[in-house]
Amino acid sequence: MDHLTYLKNRNKIAIEKQRGGINMLVTTKEMFEKSMKEGFAIGAFNINDLEILQGIVDAAGECNSPVILQASSSAIKYARINYLMKMVEAATEEYPNIPIAIHLDHGPDFETAKMCIDNGFTSVMIDGSKYDFEENVRLTKQVVDYAHSKGVVVEAELGKLAGIEDDVNVDSKDAMYTDPAQAEEFVKRTGCDSLAIAIGTSHGAYKFKGEAKLRFDILKEIKDRIPNTPIVLHGASTVIPELVDMCNKYGGNIPGAKGVPDEILHQASISGVSKINVDTDLRLAMTAGIRKTFAEEPNVFDPRKYLGNARELIKETVKHKMTDVFGSSNKA
Ligand code: G3H
Ligand code: 13P
Ligand code: ZN
Repeated sequence: MDHLTYLKNRNKIAIEKQRGGINMLVTTKEMFEKSMKEGFAIGAFNINDLEILQGIVDAAGECNSPVILQASSSAIKYARINYLMKMVEAATEEYPNIPIAIHLDHGPDFETAKMCIDNGFTSVMIDGSKYDFEENVRLTKQVVDYAHSKGVVVEAELGKLAGIEDDVNVDSKDAMYTDPAQAEEFVKRTGCDSLAIAIGTSHGAYKFKGEAKLRFDILKEIKDRIPNTPIVLHGASTVIPELVDMCNKYGGNIPGAKGVPDEILHQASISGVSKINVDTDLRLAMTAGIRKTFAEEPNVFDPRKYLGNARELIKETVKHKMTDVFGSSNKA
């Protein structure tokens, strides 16, 4: 959409919004229902700044795909919640026909979830996976009660992911797959709207030492027990080899990085996983785009040049996922 059309649309939308005619940000309810009915997954992409956000929504617009934008508490600290919400709102104005949800990623406690809900998030995750089962149930239920009273949906997590990435830090020896019977009891007792499960993925750029493998048998048993609960996969970046190579070629040093291959993620997308979380691949795309510009054009010092190139690479990365891996293209 060119800028003039955008401005015209913007005015039209502002008027319809005033009349209450348009619901701008959506929850994940309808997109998940469609994903479960039609067998595809929706990408949930972590946002930290303007370029990452624009790369993602430009891809969703071109692919005509629903999209979940998510921010962790450290992203909120970095970008500041008012700036984040205004930018996300601008995205919904630019793409009024694309279902866009804004979700809190890895909410650490009730207060953070409440703060996001009160600031207009349409979905929150409460990550009680670090607690024992009973405490996870209690905390999740507390967030569900508040969120539902405000029309917001809740993602919970059961089972532990191995791996180390910033605020998400679980010792790999504690890695624990989700127990399907417990998952059924957990969803019944908490009333959560979607459930993140542990079937072998982990956060960050180093997911597997040997062969990449996910426990599809556990996924199937969970889907059999709770067929109407959308399932979420965290730590699901591909760690795209071309992006790692690009980072390394242009001065980076990221040896031995390994993620979940596209074929496995595609299999998950058609086997009952409704939401696939991606952060590491975006970090790699951003870094590769900036490094390449610096290496090839050492005289460049206009941030719009290197950040613009990085934004373009993020867009191509997200388009590839929506079209070739998750199957969410043309599902808006
Ligand atoms: O799963 C965690 C995401 O990669 C967010 O990481 O806390 O550094 O923003 P972050
Ligand atoms: P990756 O580190 O594999 O991108 O996972 C991101 C994630 O799970 C965000 O919650
Ligand atoms: Zn995660």
